[in-house]
Amino acid sequence: TRQPIPQDKFSFGLWTVGWVGVDPFGSASRPALDPWEYSDNLAELGAWGVSFHDNDVFPFGADEATKRGILTRFKEATDAAGLVIEMVTTNTFSHPVFKDGGLTSNDRGVRRFGLRKILSAVDLAAEFGATTFVMWGGREGSEYDGSKDVHSAMDRYKEGLDTVAAHIKAQGYDLRIALEPKPNEPRGDIFLPTAGHALALIAELEHGDIVGLNPETGHEQMAGLNYTHGIGQALWSDKLFHIDLNGQRGLKYDQDLVFGHGDLVSAFFTVDLLENGFPNHPDGPRYTGPRHFDYKPSRTEYMDGVWESARACMATYLMLADKARAFRADPRVQDALGYAGVPDLAQPTLAEGESIADFLATDDGFDPDAAAERDFGFVALQQLALEHLIG
Ligand code: GCO
Ligand code: MN
Ligand code: MN
Ligand code: MN
Repeated sequence: TRQPIPQDKFSFGLWTVGWVGVDPFGSASRPALDPWEYSDNLAELGAWGVSFHDNDVFPFGADEATKRGILTRFKEATDAAGLVIEMVTTNTFSHPVFKDGGLTSNDRGVRRFGLRKILSAVDLAAEFGATTFVMWGGREGSEYDGSKDVHSAMDRYKEGLDTVAAHIKAQGYDLRIALEPKPNEPRGDIFLPTAGHALALIAELEHGDIVGLNPETGHEQMAGLNYTHGIGQALWSDKLFHIDLNGQRGLKYDQDLVFGHGDLVSAFFTVDLLENGFPNHPDGPRYTGPRHFDYKPSRTEYMDGVWESARACMATYLMLADKARAFRADPRVQDALGYAGVPDLAQPTLAEGESIADFLATDDGFDPDAAAERDFGFVALQQLALEHLIG
């Protein structure tokens, strides 16, 4: 495969390559670099952009002068490397003050503190030219059902999101909010556990027009769900604002593996959708945003492995993109899609102008038993995908 180029729009969270390997059972397995020390390597590997949490760059509670000093140095390094700061987010999960959440903590003082922290990260996002502001409410949730009034929690989540969105509009920032669903970890149960839950909350917002999704591959898969369907529905709703690509194998803790190192067939269809769009809808909607990786270089790796894993995310994506293009261009695949009836799903079920009364009065002469004998050929189609993937 070719080297990644800026046009590929690959980007990395600073906390991905910056993860030092601390997990619940062990301490760091690698050194932490300064925030400005990651840019050159990422740019050299072919990345186009970076993203960060406020506290990936400056420490929690840093005074204004310290904060400014670090931010300036960081911005200079990303500019020098030619990297775009495409997304900024807030850490409302590491400090123990957020142990019961930032926007939905039962403690109102914590909520007011959390909301101010988020608003100040929004200002930072705008200042640094980011166009997406991700909100992952990792600590919003509970371990015990009795500890939360879910109705109030949704009220406070909505209040928080609408306040952030209203601030963006009032300041005239060119910024959209992208909510990131996750079913659990670090909380026993996190609010907005899936893309569907998040879409439903967005529909209740006053400023939902600038709020969409940042679905993460592994997070949908931790809930046993289909990531490609999730981003597909988000696209259909015009709400796919950003993506977090990574790998996950099954229903377990959040693995944050390299993209493609989890469910490879699912990754193939994810890339197929991102690169080629819906088969029946060549004119869109299409995802044109960053191909953003949110993964963790495994704790077994040292610094060479960190950069190798970042390279692997992009290389895997590019290999899958090549294969997905060949898949769509293969005449056998086009035939198989036709045989499977995929194009037919684009046809409305009712005829144009057909009233419900007309519809009910019409006899299509349909024979259910004959129709039940249809062979859809979905297996053959899937095997063609596999042939392109590994053949
Ligand atoms: C996870 C999440 C987080 C968020 C990030 C953005 O792995 O649980 O992906 O890494 O994406 O914090 O706010
Ligand atoms: Mn994750
Ligand atoms: Mn993520
Ligand atoms: Mn992550």
